[in-house]
Order: sequence, then C-alpha cells, then structure tokens
Amino acid sequence: MSMTHAQAIVLAAGLGTRMKSTLPKVLHPLCGQPMIQYVVDALTQAGMARIVVVVGHGASAVRQTVGDRVEYVVQANQAGTGHAVQQAHSLLHAVQGQTLVVCGDTPLITSATLRALLSVQQQTAGAATVLTGNVGALRGFGRIVRTPTGEVAQIIEEKECDATQRRITEINAGIYAFDNQKLFTSLTQLTTNNAQGEYYLTDVIEILTTQGERVHGMECADVHEIFGVNDLVALAQAEVLMRQRIATRHMYNGVRMVDPQTTYVDATVTIEPQTTIHPHTYLRGCTAIGARCTIGPGADLTDAIVHADVRITHSVVVNAVIGHDSTVGPFAYLRPGTHVAEHVKIGDFVEIKNTHIGKGSKIPHHAYVGDATIGQNVNIGCGVITANFDGISKYETHVGDGTFIGSNATLVAPLHIANEAFICAGSTITDDVGVEDMAIARTRQMNKPGYANALKTKRQQQPAPPRT
Ligand code: UD1
Ligand code: CA
Repeated sequence: MSMTHAQAIVLAAGLGTRMKSTLPKVLHPLCGQPMIQYVVDALTQAGMARIVVVVGHGASAVRQTVGDRVEYVVQANQAGTGHAVQQAHSLLHAVQGQTLVVCGDTPLITSATLRALLSVQQQTAGAATVLTGNVGALRGFGRIVRTPTGEVAQIIEEKECDATQRRITEINAGIYAFDNQKLFTSLTQLTTNNAQGEYYLTDVIEILTTQGERVHGMECADVHEIFGVNDLVALAQAEVLMRQRIATRHMYNGVRMVDPQTTYVDATVTIEPQTTIHPHTYLRGCTAIGARCTIGPGADLTDAIVHADVRITHSVVVNAVIGHDSTVGPFAYLRPGTHVAEHVKIGDFVEIKNTHIGKGSKIPHHAYVGDATIGQNVNIGCGVITANFDGISKYETHVGDGTFIGSNATLVAPLHIANEAFICAGSTITDDVGVEDMAIARTRQMNKPGYANALKTKRQQQPAPPRT
C-alpha cells in the first residue's frame, strides 16, 4: 500500500483551559518532550507525505518547538475542532487521497495504529474511519453511535448526550482517517448549534452518513494509546504510561532496569545493552549511556555522554562527558563543561565545572575543581580547591601529568603547575610551579613543650564565668 497520498492535520491551537497554565497544552512535557513532538513523530514514522499543524495559542512557541518538518496554519480564534480543521482548507482541499486528523493532546498514539487506521480506510473505501476505544465509563469523550450493521452513524459529544447515550462505552479517540475531499466538503456544512457553541469536527460524521456516505470504526487494541490529556491529572497518568513504554523498549534492548517504576528516562535518551540502571535515577535530555555501565541508585544525569563501563552513584551530572571505566560518586556534582577521560576516579563531595580531567587521575573526596585542565595520573587530595574567581573574573588552573596535589591545598588561579610536581598539604599556591618541583606555602609549625598541660591547669583554676 502506498502512503504517498496520505497527509495529516494536527490540532494544536487550543490553550487547554483545564490545564490551568499559560503554557499551551500541546507543549506540556511528557518524559522530557512536549506532547506534540510524540504526535508529529508518530505521523512522520507512519509515512505522511505532508503534516499540517493548526496553531493558535502560543503559535510561535509551538512552531519553534516542532520546527520546519511540518507546515502550519493559524486558527486565530478557537471556535472548535471542526473550525480548526477548516483552517487547512487552502493548503489541502484540492488534494486527492486520505487525510489523518489527529489531536495534539494524544501523545501515546503509535505509528502502527495510525498506519492500521489508514489501511482500514483504504480497504473499506468509505468517507471516513474513526479510531475508537472501548474504555467503559471514561469521562469527557465523545460517544460512538453505531448503525445496526456496525458502521458508525454519528459521534455525540458527552455534553450533548442523553442518559442512554452517556452509557455507551465506545468512545471517540479524536483520531480519524478521512477521504480528503469529502472531509473538506462536509466541513462547510458544520454549525455551532450545540452546548458549547463550537464547530465540532465530530458532527462531520453525521453530516456524511446522512448523505449516505459510509463511515467505519476501528477499535484501538490498546486503549492507552488514545489517552487524551486535558488536565494535569491526565498528564501525570500519561507520563506513567509513556515511562513504562520507554523502559520496556530499553529492557528489550538489553538494559537492566532494577525498578522501572522509579527510573525516569526521557524519550530522547539512548542506553547501550548490558548497562544496569538502579532505582531513583533520572536520565534526561540527550543523555547517552554506553555499554556495561552501572548508573544509580540516585543518579540525575542531564545531557551527559557516558562511555562504556562507567559507574555513577548518587550524583548529579549536567552537560558533561565521562570516559571509559571511570567512576563518579557517591555525591559528586559534575557541572557543564566537565570532561572526564578514561579510568578516572571522581569520589564523594567533589564538584567539577568546565574542566578536563586526564586519564587515570583521581579526585577521591571533597574538592572543587573549576576552569581547569588536569593532566594524566594526577592525584588531587582531600579538600583541594581551585580558587578560580576573584569576584570579577574567572581564571584557569593547569596541572601537569603525574603531579600530586596535597590535601587542603588552595590553587589560586591563574596558575600553572607543571608535570611531576608535588604540592604540599595545606598550601596556598599563588605562583607557578615547575617540572618535578615541590611547593610548600604554609606557616611553619611551632611546638611548645608541656604547654597543653599548663593550659589545662590554668583553666581548672579559673572556673568558667557564670552563664548569662
Ligand atoms: C475531542 C472530541 C471528542 C473526543 C476527544 C478525544 C470534538 C468536538 N471532541 O474532545 O469527541 O472524544 O477529543 O480526545 O472534537 N483544538 C484546536 N482548536 C479549537 C479547539 C480544539 O486546535 O478550536 C485542538 C486542541 O488544542 C486539542 C484538540 O483540538 O489538541 C482537541 O480539543 P479538546 O478541546 O481537547 O477536545 P476534547 O474535549 O478532548
Ligand atoms: Ca482533548
């Protein structure tokens, strides 16, 4: 079957009043991606020749998000779903073939279902095929009225239903395959004679069947796919379903998820097989995880590139690269611009920003390294700080290969410490250090024999002043 003559219209002009938000409804994110992206992705995968998105509320934001892979028409006032489709008239009315109409607020719809809907429409060759779901008493959906022979007679919006009609359990998914020309002809006959005073797209069905056209219904096998998001409760429920779908895809791909229910992986994340993700882990944005890694528990990674065999636990990583066989955490914070080479150890309470750490280097505990270049096989002791900011500007620190930075050293930037150098513990280093040099910068120690005992005796003779 050729798809070349199928096009799609996505309805995305509504504000989504029930969301109680200034963000246009279709831009609300689900697993890190705006709802409408999922819909457009599914249509693209289903092989649409053209996709036209109807925008209105937040039009420029929607355009910016979806980009130029689709065409746009503007619905200036939101006079209903039928009115929204009409806005595509000038672009599409003359086209022969089939048109899918999809709401931008049903993010769980799959390309397989869209393809199946088109193929039913093509085989039955009626005026339209409506995607339906048998969901029991789900509120807010239009009800499907079938003819005695099982075709679709009409769709009645819930607000228009009488008591008997409301009990119908087959609902309208808001997704249809139309004969394009019959769609645009019948749209001109819509009225606003209903409870909401809107042009309902759903009324097109009765207009068609009254004229003797045939409309079919295709029941969606998985009702989750047609879940529509109208408020924040539904958004949270849709996110649970999407999260499950994403986790399932990764697990079938060889990723071990210890507890998928507490693992939050954005749709855009990639993970190689044989990696284990422990609970309470967030993988966000364009994070990419290599093979055989152990991530979590409690890892929060955004736009991170993680190479193979890396271990990260209880740490936050933002816009950073972590090389092969390195370990991070617990309780490390890798900030933007951090580039960790292979076989590196980043331990507890270490913060790194805009810094390159060379192969085999170790920062085992309690350190801040910012705006620095650290060579290979460097050891950075406990409590080391790069003082990179003087209140006005940021300065860089360079540490050469094989150098040892003793505990609690303060490296005052700009600073250049050469290879194989040794910085003594507790030093405040303000001057550059040469190859194989040792630097010590601290006050000499003075011991006073017996002084501790003398102090103690003195204190015992002078009782503490009364507490006020
Ligand atoms: C719609 C259907 C209902 C169906 C349900 C499935 C109609 C009249 N009702 O109801 O039968 O069961 O979807 O989810 O079609 N939109 C515009 N312009 C407008 C109005 C809406 O672009 O003037 C867009 C919205 O942004 C949204 C979509 O159309 O993406 C659906 O609108 P919504 O108000 O959510 O319709 P429902 O009440 O859910
Ligand atoms: Ca809706």
